[in-house]
Amino acid sequence: MALPLITLPLVELHLHIEGTLEPELIFDLAARNEVTLPWASLDELRAQYEFADLSSFLDLYYRNLDVVRQRVDFADLTRAYLKRAAAGGVRHAEIFFDPQAHTSRGIPLAIALGGVHDALANSVAEFGLSTKLIVTFLRDRPASEALEILQQILAGDVSIDGIGLDSAEVGYPPSLFIEVFSLARANGLHLVAHAGEEGPPAYVWEALDLLQVERVDHGIRSLEDDALVERLVADRIPLTVCPLSNVRLRVIDTLADHPLLGMLERGLLVTINSDDPAYFGGYVDDNVAALTAEFALDAAQLALLARNGIEASFLAAAEKAVLN
Ligand code: ADE
Ligand code: ZN
Repeated sequence: MALPLITLPLVELHLHIEGTLEPELIFDLAARNEVTLPWASLDELRAQYEFADLSSFLDLYYRNLDVVRQRVDFADLTRAYLKRAAAGGVRHAEIFFDPQAHTSRGIPLAIALGGVHDALANSVAEFGLSTKLIVTFLRDRPASEALEILQQILAGDVSIDGIGLDSAEVGYPPSLFIEVFSLARANGLHLVAHAGEEGPPAYVWEALDLLQVERVDHGIRSLEDDALVERLVADRIPLTVCPLSNVRLRVIDTLADHPLLGMLERGLLVTINSDDPAYFGGYVDDNVAALTAEFALDAAQLALLARNGIEASFLAAAEKAVLN
């Protein structure tokens, strides 16, 4: 029997809300907040979107956030993502939010987190899209700062679903964050971490063994270590893979070089995600469309990727059953 053709993703599990800040919104928020931009036009800004690696991207990602200042800005940013994701077929999103990208430039945690929460609170009613919120800590800032922010969040009135680790990877191994992840685990939070994007397989091992993460974000360098692949397969640890991001950050040369098919063949639980869609040329549906065109994915492969996303989510079993 022919499988139904699934063209749209249902679930997105690797999405930085700050990475959905589109150039147009940068200009709108600059006008609202009377910020003078270094770019005279949208085209001049867009001309900056050529990245040599993760760190050259992160420079622009953090710099552009200068225009996001008020609670309503955070809500507008988040609402714009939810609207676009829903239009692309997303029914559930587990969203990363980087508190330190804002507190480090003087924005109070309550303003930033509160604004994101305002939009998420209405997401099901407004867009038919359920969400979870994962606070990601910048691994190139001190672990003591991450611990302090986590403590503030745990004592505050916005509840979060999990924590993760992101930002510049090489030189900042997961082992630096054992205490932060222990506290999160003790408080019943879900645990994820970026690992094996630019960093070595050893960082993926550390994320699994020392931080006890439930999912690995990116993780594509795991393929360099057969024992690690076996571990990920045996424990059904999902990898939240972001193909257009991998190309734009030069983790791989072209989409044709993406190891997606090999990962599936080896039995890895791969999900497809957009990472920072405003910077990498597409939302999650664009990622799926690009892969489908590049690798001539068939209905069974697309269905597997969609099912993997549901399985890898932090939804309850009954909620997963509704999406399946
Ligand atoms: N922050 C936003 N996008 C990221 C990525 N691809 N890797 C690490 N940190 C990030
Ligand atoms: Zn990411």
